[in-house]
Amino acid sequence: MLEIKNLHVRAGGREILKGIDLTIPDGHTCVLFGPNGSGKSTLLAAIMGYGSTEITEGRIVFKGQDITRMSVDERAKLGIGMMMQRPPNVTGVKLGDLVKATAGGGDCEGVLDKVDTFGMDRFMDRDVNVGFSGGELKRSELLQLTAQQPDFVLLDEPESGVDIESMALVGQKVRELLYDNSVCGVKSNVNRDVSSLVITHTGQILDYIGADTAYIMKDGTIRCSGRPADILKDIREKGYRECIECRSRIVKL
Ligand SMILES: Nc1ncnc2c1ncn2[C@@H]1O[C@H](COP(=O)(O)OP(=O)(O)O)[C@@H](O)[C@H]1O
Ligand SMILES: [Mg+2]
Repeated sequence: MLEIKNLHVRAGGREILKGIDLTIPDGHTCVLFGPNGSGKSTLLAAIMGYGSTEITEGRIVFKGQDITRMSVDERAKLGIGMMMQRPPNVTGVKLGDLVKATAGGGDCEGVLDKVDTFGMDRFMDRDVNVGFSGGELKRSELLQLTAQQPDFVLLDEPESGVDIESMALVGQKVRELLYDNSVCGVKSNVNRDVSSLVITHTGQILDYIGADTAYIMKDGTIRCSGRPADILKDIREKGYRECIECRSRIVKL
C-alpha cells in the first residue's frame, strides 16, 4: 500500500529525515517509536503532504502512484487520512459541517447517526477544535477520520493528553476505524484492507489494536524493527539507545 524510498526531508534550514526506507503492505498496522525530536511527526507530515517541510530526495509511492509532489487534498482523496499530534483550531468552521461534508463526499453517511458514540454530539455546533480538551481533540479527529474512511491511516500519538477512562473510547474508535466498516451503514465497502502507521510513546494503543511490525526512529533514520511487544518491552527495560544497539547486533549476526 505504501512504499517510502530514501526519503530526505528538510525543515527550518536543516535535514530532519535522513534517508527513510519503509514499506507497509495492505492491511498492515505498523507502530513507530522513538525519542522526542527524532522526526516521527515529520515523517507523518511528509506522507500526508502537510506542513512546511520540504522533501529534498527520495519518493513516496501509495497504491502504485508516486505521491511525493501531490497536494494534501489529492492525497486525502486517494485514501490517506491523518490524526495530528496537535491539530490546529479552525475558527469559523463548525465540526458538524466538516463531518457532514467529509462523510457526504465519501461513503460514510452512516457516521452522522453515530456521533454520540464518539461522545461528540454536543460538539457539532462548535468551531473545530477550539477550546477542546485533550480527549475531545482526539475524539474529534477520530470522528473526522471515520467520516473520511481512509485506506491508510496515520495516527500521531493517539493516547497523548487522554485520561485513562477516555482512553478506552479512543482505543475502541481507533479499532473500529481500522477493522470495522459497519459504522458507515449500507454504503460501506466491506472489503477495505486498511493499513496504518501509528506513533506511540507509551504503547497504550497496542491494548486496542493488533500491530504487525514496530520500528524505532532516532535522529531522522529508522534504526531497527521487530515485533511490537518485543520492542516495547526492550524500550521499557533498556531504554532506546541500548535497545537499538542490541537489535543492530542481532541483525548483523
Ligand atoms: N517546520 C519546522 N521548522 C523547524 N524545525 C522543525 C520543523 N518541523 C520539525 N522540526 C524539528 O525537527 C525535529 C523533529 O521533529 P518531530 O518530527 O516533531 O519529532 P518527533 O515527532 O519525533 O518528536 C525537531 O527537532 C523539530 O524541532
Ligand atoms: Mg511528534
